[in-house]
Amino acid sequence: MGNLSIAPLNGVGAEVTGVDLARELDDGVFAEIQNAFANYGVIFFRDQSLNETDHIAFAKRWGTVNVNRFFAAHEKFPEIALVAKEPEQTDNIGGGWHTDHSYDAEPAMGSILVARVLPDSGGDTLFASMYSAYEALDDRMKDKLEGLRAVHSAKRIFGEGLDTYYTKTDAGGGRIGNTAAAEALQDVSHPVVLTHPLSERKALYVNPAFTIAIEGMDKAESDELLSDLYAHCMNPAFTHRFQWRPGSIAFWDNRATWHWAKNDYHGQRRVMHRITIEGCALH
Ligand code: SIN
Repeated sequence: MGNLSIAPLNGVGAEVTGVDLARELDDGVFAEIQNAFANYGVIFFRDQSLNETDHIAFAKRWGTVNVNRFFAAHEKFPEIALVAKEPEQTDNIGGGWHTDHSYDAEPAMGSILVARVLPDSGGDTLFASMYSAYEALDDRMKDKLEGLRAVHSAKRIFGEGLDTYYTKTDAGGGRIGNTAAAEALQDVSHPVVLTHPLSERKALYVNPAFTIAIEGMDKAESDELLSDLYAHCMNPAFTHRFQWRPGSIAFWDNRATWHWAKNDYHGQRRVMHRITIEGCALH
């Protein structure tokens, strides 16, 4: 491999070629990849051959690994969360627009997802650019959002007592509703429009899975504003559909994108290894 190349994709993201992620990256190459990550929101790699140790080493180059408190972990490598769906399961993980960890006071920077077992067809992941979503708002809406904050919580998705697969599934594929997780179900508040810590660009930071209200608004007003923003963010012009192949890797930035794992491969198995990297408080 050689000659690093970064090709922007329609909608969101860029494909990075000419790099072997199983090898240690020199500082110049790393800086170019980091710049692409910060500015495109999600970067994709093809034809990689990373074992678990390589995956962890690459992740640690970016920061501290977040050991997921809701997902089943790889049996040998706790840093690796399993994003799996077995043939008999009907629900999947991440099957709706969301951004990971917005329920944390310091939301995770992003995740590096490596394909391990893929269905014969289906199982794509959609990504949406929250930079583009913000930039396409009209000035009246940008002014309205200025200074607003939103409350985020994991309760709706991971909370105890929910009749969802998140609390029912354990090893073999899903998220687990354990005591440690229950202790971590606090509400947090973040700006509705953030300034990205790496690119310094503005991005919308609300998402349908974890944002529960706009601070300081009554429920009806908050629900209406959130639903208008979500409809705006789902514009296909801001999205890219990533089709996985053996050797594919997606590395997304939670502060600049949403994603959605399509659940259209019932009866087949899909196993992905996810490593999440810690982030920072958002402003
Ligand atoms: C996720 O982390 O939300 C899952 C993404 C995927 O499986 O494609």
